[in-house]
Formats: sequence, C-alpha cells, structure tokens
Amino acid sequence: MDNKDRLTELFDKTSEWITPSLEGSFPQELSDDITVKAADYSLMAGGKRIRPMMIYMTSCMLGLDEERFDIARRFAVALEMIHTYSLIHDDLPAMDNDDLRRGKPTCHKAFGEGIAILAGDALMNRAYEILFDILTEYPQYAFAASNMARLAGICGMIGGQSIDLASEETDIELEKLYELQEKKTGALIECAITTPYYLIGSYNDEVAVILRKLASHMGLMFQIKDDILDETSTAEVLGKNTGKDLRDEKATFVTLLGLSGAGDKLKEEYESALTLCSALKEKGYDSDDYKVLIDFFYSREK
Ligand code: IPE
Ligand code: IPE
Ligand code: MG
Ligand code: MG
Ligand code: MG
Repeated sequence: MDNKDRLTELFDKTSEWITPSLEGSFPQELSDDITVKAADYSLMAGGKRIRPMMIYMTSCMLGLDEERFDIARRFAVALEMIHTYSLIHDDLPAMDNDDLRRGKPTCHKAFGEGIAILAGDALMNRAYEILFDILTEYPQYAFAASNMARLAGICGMIGGQSIDLASEETDIELEKLYELQEKKTGALIECAITTPYYLIGSYNDEVAVILRKLASHMGLMFQIKDDILDETSTAEVLGKNTGKDLRDEKATFVTLLGLSGAGDKLKEEYESALTLCSALKEKGYDSDDYKVLIDFFYSREK
C-alpha cells in the first residue's frame, strides 16, 4: 500500500473509532440547549482529527490490549474536545478575531460571543469529566490523565497561547518563538503521542524519551507548516482565513525568518522526526505509520 492510501486509511479508521463518541458527547436531554448546539457545531464541523489519529497509531504501534485500546479512545475523545475548545476561543474577537473555521463560520459568528465562550467551556469540562470517569473505573491511569491536564494548561497549550498574544506587535527572540510553538501546538501533540505509552505504565524509560522527542519535532513541524500555509494558501483550501499572522503582527517562523527560512526549519524538523522513527524501529516498534504522518506534516496542503 502506498503512503497516500495508508494515510487515507488512517484518517478513515480514526474517524470510525471516535466519531460515535464525539457525536453523543453531551446528554441527549440537553440537545436543545444553545451551548450544546454550539459545541456540537464546532466539534462536528470537520477537523482533521490529527491528535486522535496519533493516539490511534501509537496504540496500534505499541500493541495495546483491548481494555487499554478502548481507554485510549476515550482519551482521544477528550483530547479532541480540548483541541476544539482551544480553537473556538482562539477565534474569538478578543484573541485572533477570525470568522472562518473548518470551512464554516466560527462558533462566535454562528452563535454569538457569549455562547461561543460557554461552548468552549462546556467542551473543556466534558473532557475532564471523561477523564474522571476513566479514573473512577481505573485509578491506574491517573498519570496519563494528569499529563493531559498539564499539557492542555498553562505549562502547555494555554501557556503557548499566552505567549502568542503577548508577542503580538513585538519582536521576540527565536528561542522564545520555539517555546511559544512547542507549547501552543506541540503540547497537545505530545499528549497524543505519549498517552498510549503512559497507559502501559512507563513514564521515563528510553522509549518514553524517544516519543517525547518525536512529539517535539512533529509539534514544531505542524505549527511551522500552519504558519507557512497562513501565508501561501487560500481560505477555500484551508477552511480558515489566511494572511492573519501578518495582519495581527504575530510572531511565527514565517514572520521571523521569512518563507524560505521557515521552509528550512520545517525540513530540519522533518529529518529529526524521521531519525526518531528509525530509533523506534531499532527498539522493535513498527513506526512506518509515523513516517506516513510525518510526510503528511511536511507536505500537507490543509
Ligand atoms: C489548527 O489545528 C490549530 C493549530 C494548532 C495549528 P488543526 O490544523 O489540527 O485544526 P483542525 O482540527 O484540523 O481544524
Ligand atoms: C492556534 O494557533 C493554536 C491553538 C492552540 C488553538 P493559530 O492561531 O495559528 O491557529 P489557527 O491558524 O487560527 O488555526
Ligand atoms: Mg492564535
Ligand atoms: Mg488563530
Ligand atoms: Mg495559524
């Protein structure tokens, strides 16, 4: 099977794996509530589901047993909810002020700002409810759950968003830009890659270290490409508006290093990520699907 077919298969399998749980995320009796409608609107608007896909792939690669595979799925649902809430809030007028997301009007454009804030809050709280439900049944997965909370919070995604907003219209050093990107985007990607491993109960051995390094390179790749596409792509292809980073004087690899400098960084991260796939292979893990995904991160058009 060639890379393109395998990628399509991975997208399809991930969708089959998590869509039923995403569709039924909130209690049926609340389906008329406007905040539930807004949360569902954004959750089901057609995101790529990259983070759940990484949980799925890593779970396959590690050969998780049936029980852990299903727990991994519940973690993937929680993570996609946290990611979606972060996008709803990222688009608000007080943050990036965007009106197009996942090919549709942003949540606040469709439902108003107040409801969009609540929809983000509802998704975040539901995500933590899912984690606590898992812990009630299986306390042994507490580390994986607290890892998700840490990486979604001020040490991770929220921390990165904070630096992102504070850096608008100011010059920042390249080192600070790495921190910004690693937190705002890298953290949830690290969560996706490491969660299945933490379910096994290993946190700090050599494989955990390799997975975290792989996540760091893939996180940077993902955001550098996002920054490049913001400059080079179109709203029709991306499903979100372009030219926003320049407009808002955001600190990105493109605004700091130019398109060609950002392209060079992307290539550097791509090669480091592939090296880590080889390291996983040496440890006996079939990392071929990771190679497929890394190629996608390198060349994706949306
Ligand atoms: C967009 O993430 C925000 C970033 C972290 C760059 P995705 O590109 O994964 O967005 P969706 O989920 O496919 O909409
Ligand atoms: C947002 O980064 C990352 C999040 C944590 C939501 P961007 O602001 O660049 O994402 P887009 O371009 O709006 O998707
Ligand atoms: Mg932003
Ligand atoms: Mg944005
Ligand atoms: Mg962007």
